[in-house]
Amino acid sequence: YVVDKGNHRHFMEKEIYEQGEVVSHTLANYLDFAGGRVKPDTSGIDFAALDRLAISACGTAYYAGLIGKYWFERFARLPVEIDVASEFRYREMPLTGTMAALFITQSGETADTLASLRYCKAQGVRIGSVVNVVESTIARESDAVFPTLAGPEIGVASTKAFTCQLSVLASLAMIAGRARGTLSDADEKAMVQALVEAPRLFNQILNTIQPQIEALSRELSRFKDVLYLGRGTSYPLALEGALKLKEISYIHAEGYAAGELKHGPIALIDETMPVIVIAPHDRLFEKTVSNMQEVAARGGQIILITDAAGAKASTLKTMATIVLPEVSEIVAPILYALPVQLIAYHTAVFMGTDVDQPRNLAKSVTVE
Ligand code: G6P
Repeated sequence: YVVDKGNHRHFMEKEIYEQGEVVSHTLANYLDFAGGRVKPDTSGIDFAALDRLAISACGTAYYAGLIGKYWFERFARLPVEIDVASEFRYREMPLTGTMAALFITQSGETADTLASLRYCKAQGVRIGSVVNVVESTIARESDAVFPTLAGPEIGVASTKAFTCQLSVLASLAMIAGRARGTLSDADEKAMVQALVEAPRLFNQILNTIQPQIEALSRELSRFKDVLYLGRGTSYPLALEGALKLKEISYIHAEGYAAGELKHGPIALIDETMPVIVIAPHDRLFEKTVSNMQEVAARGGQIILITDAAGAKASTLKTMATIVLPEVSEIVAPILYALPVQLIAYHTAVFMGTDVDQPRNLAKSVTVE
């Protein structure tokens, strides 16, 4: 594996463009592409016997876990508790033999995630980990390792590891759903099919939205604050969008659940704070549109990330509407990560920051 930037200006840009390929590799590990089913689970984690799953991770991996929670609960009817690892390790959660713990980490070396793993292990809980570096400490100390096949990730801000983590979590939620008898054959087939078709959409999307996002990012680089909103699995993406933007462009950004807008951030809305709304035209779309109306009524400038049906259904004036293909709900968070990453990337390029090595941040945080 040659680690260079190829034709790209930064590792981050290269890693954004690699995603179709590495997501495809990762999915092939869990899905039977030809048969249209999930592969049999050989991890030794007995999903059928669990009454609870505890997920713990840091940073971007934590947001992948938050999306995973929606999937495990919806498709496998498996209750999930999720915490950032720095809280999990101290919250003294009562653990039982009928639960399992899942840790998500690109490096496999993050100190808080490792400490949380050891806390669970000491109490006899079965440990699974979604890890990119399979020879890492966390992989070695886990009972079951679910690899992401993203290849080396050099940019400090995680991109391809994130979409690969989502691919593994979507697969695991289906594997668990099958084991628990909560996922019908028809739903499994439809979701596997949608996931198998997703990787070829990556480059198509990136090439289509890139010029528009570059122009938008030039505008965004003039602002001091940006708010991201989303509902359902788009909510963790809003958190991830805000994290990415602040990490590499140093523009203050916050991610909020769209429904929480009226419980605080609405007080900040005016023409000086653009609001990026992540809203595929799914069963929650109308709810998010009503939050967008609240923003528009207060002079807020909206950037809407949606699909053609969503763009048609929303009549509000926007600063930009970024249109993605209409895709299945299980695929949407994976593809909607792309505009979120590109916005942060291009804004940072306009700001002239060190995109691959932002100030004060480390790729792997091995101290508490
Ligand atoms: C650091 C990195 C992030 C990453 C987080 C967790 O903060 O800058 O990109 O998401 O650590 O790292 P891990 O290796 O555990 O996924």
